[in-house]
Amino acid sequence: MLDRSNELTAWDRDHFFHPSTHMGMHARGEMPTRVIAGGEGVYITDTTGKTSLDAFAGLYCVNVGYGRQKIADAIASQAKNLAYYHAYVGHGTEASITLSKMIIDRAPEGMSRVYFGLSGSDANETNIKLIWYYNNILGRPEKKKIISRWRGYHGSGVMTGSLTGLELFHNAFDLPRAPILHTEAPYYFRRADRSMSEEQFAQDCADKLEEMILAEGPDTIAAFIGEPILGTGGIVPPPATYWQKIQAVLDKYDILLVADEVVTGFGRLGTMFGSDHYGMKPDLITIAKGLTSAYAPLSGTIVSDKMWQVLVQGSDKMGALGHGWTYSAHPICAAAGVANLELIDELDLVTNAGETGAYFRAELTKALGDHKHVGEVRGDGMMAAVEFVEDRDDRKFFEPSAKIGPQIAAAMAARGVIGRAMPQGDILGFAPPLCLTREEADVVVKAAAAAVDEVFEGL
Ligand SMILES: Cc1ncc(COP(=O)(O)O)c(C=O)c1O
Repeated sequence: MLDRSNELTAWDRDHFFHPSTHMGMHARGEMPTRVIAGGEGVYITDTTGKTSLDAFAGLYCVNVGYGRQKIADAIASQAKNLAYYHAYVGHGTEASITLSKMIIDRAPEGMSRVYFGLSGSDANETNIKLIWYYNNILGRPEKKKIISRWRGYHGSGVMTGSLTGLELFHNAFDLPRAPILHTEAPYYFRRADRSMSEEQFAQDCADKLEEMILAEGPDTIAAFIGEPILGTGGIVPPPATYWQKIQAVLDKYDILLVADEVVTGFGRLGTMFGSDHYGMKPDLITIAKGLTSAYAPLSGTIVSDKMWQVLVQGSDKMGALGHGWTYSAHPICAAAGVANLELIDELDLVTNAGETGAYFRAELTKALGDHKHVGEVRGDGMMAAVEFVEDRDDRKFFEPSAKIGPQIAAAMAARGVIGRAMPQGDILGFAPPLCLTREEADVVVKAAAAAVDEVFEGL
């Protein structure tokens, strides 16, 4: 194949406005452009021929791994037969209808309908609108505020960027917007009072939530949104009993729960949904990434029967729902979703996520758990993180300007393994495809350990 790397690099710097990228460094050529050309299993290959083990599955989305013929065939066949028809006014396709049924069959109890979008962000926008609509139909026009958590990630639109609780996504964008509020992150390792047990800390989080609800007025709080396990905020599993305690507060004040399962939906925690894994009882569930393993963009809002019954009353009063996207339930994406969910079952990837994920974390802990600059190795299912500290005993963090996390991720990438330097803190994140084998997990651990040694030796 003709090597077009130089030409593509020049075009890239001059014309491509990349998401989540340092614009100046990129345009000035101070950071490498990597042109990805292919993928197979857990590996990707760039145009220079360099292969890397992708231990973050793209952006924790390529759950079945790269190069799956079955999904490619389903997409091609759908494109040939019917590339597009809309889903407005009761229209559907075999793919979109079948996928709705497959999702509800796999969803936690009490779920009823799926509204399709294209991204996790637009699905959370849909959630916010449905929550407001729901309370308007119930005659509760004041009950509109939504509580999210610091360090939560729910997208980067205007409202979903407001739900997100990460500084980078707010700074200079005039976010967050009302009526979004943020409460304590369930981040045990970073708790202010280190004498607290996990359960005491979980209770403290629930108490802080209740205090906020009472201060604002329970009649003004519509919903609480959370990822079952914090993802982009640092890959942080909830402290023991957290969701039970939060759920009790929400039930007490008639507040809806939105489980943002964009990362955890369809197997990542070793269960089909994270809500089941942690005993959450959501009224809405956000899904995206793992729904198609990113072979085509597709997201969804899964609506509980309790909410659905009220929404139906809404259209009986007001007519058709004033909310729609041109590409909602796009047939090509839906066909990818059907093939992807079938493949997850055929390959038993949910079981593998639990089993190989546990092996991976155990090996990571063996390799790095005692390192003097490792504060914590944590995770659940096929998600893991290593958090670095300057001093373990004092739990002293490095100055962000030292960029320890990015340096370690770069040193690992140089060894052919991709992890992710999480955006807030010196945290190296892993979320490999769910098809990861033990041998591949060993490759990741070895590269991570060598990268850590290299960076700290150089300090
Ligand atoms: C939990 C969660 N919700 C929502 C989103 C937003 O999804 P998208 O980037 O598809 O808009 C993400 C993306 O990483 C996510 O992790």
